[in-house]
Amino acid sequence: MSARTQRQPPTVAVIGAGSVGATIAYTALVRGTARRVVLHDINAAKLKAEVLDISHGLSFTPMGSIDGSDDVEICRDARVVVVTAGAKQQPGQSRMELAESTVLLTKKLMPRLLEVAPDATYIMVTNPVDVVTTAALRMTGMPPEQLFGSGTVLDSSRLRYGIADTIGVAVQNVHAYVVGEHGDTEFPLWSSASVGGVPLVDWSRRHGGVLDEDARDAIAHDVVHAAYQIIEGKGATNYAVALACCQIVESVLRDERRVLPVSTMLTGDYGIDGVCLSIPTVVGSGGAMERLQVPMSDAERRLLRQSADSIRRTAERVDA
Ligand code: 2OP
Repeated sequence: MSARTQRQPPTVAVIGAGSVGATIAYTALVRGTARRVVLHDINAAKLKAEVLDISHGLSFTPMGSIDGSDDVEICRDARVVVVTAGAKQQPGQSRMELAESTVLLTKKLMPRLLEVAPDATYIMVTNPVDVVTTAALRMTGMPPEQLFGSGTVLDSSRLRYGIADTIGVAVQNVHAYVVGEHGDTEFPLWSSASVGGVPLVDWSRRHGGVLDEDARDAIAHDVVHAAYQIIEGKGATNYAVALACCQIVESVLRDERRVLPVSTMLTGDYGIDGVCLSIPTVVGSGGAMERLQVPMSDAERRLLRQSADSIRRTAERVDA
């Protein structure tokens, strides 16, 4: 380890200075997720502008620094690498439609990143994230706990918001997960969702029909269609995904061991093998440390297998 590396705090490298990457870098500094953030993009002019703009706010954030380069060397010895580089989802376009180009880009990018940051924990964010994560793991042969996807951490937050808003309790006290693909086949695990220990499937019986089956279906629909709605209105989603990613990064850097539905490679669990999708997982300094065996109804297990089939079909189509 060089003297320069020894002096530096753990670095979080963000790959891609588009709206998601730049907002992750900004959010990481505002939250104090990391003392040192570096941004890498091949568009040097955009990169320079984002780094300058964020740098000019550093007197208002916890102690931190940001640096950027169009040379991947800037990521050398990073502790965590967050990969957001890839094609932008257009209004009405599904995440799966981006698979071909983003898998190609991931195959080019990963060997270069591994040369400079072989020991980093890699968090894939580029969509379709489950296919991209599957491709990155297959091509690099990395340990599956060291490379995983941001998965449905964002979608689960959207779900918790929808439930909290409907029943009028703090979002922090809603425990509910969206699982499967980060995309059109994802679904909430209603059978294990709870508030204050009260199962949400029983909520409507004691609360005058609030959160009955129709209301739950409407919330699930809003969650699945949230990104389409936001992209239609402003061209991209960036704030909530950045917060979700920073929570994942913090759980790794501080060994918090939060249970987060990140996208990991399944190896027979739930009858699924060889594709990445999201299941509640303990995330800490060892990366994606333990996938939980969540109780599921028969219908939920069926939906999970259908979601896995959809990811597998796209992965096969684009040779992931
Ligand atoms: C999101 O769900 C587009 O995947 C991105 O906000």
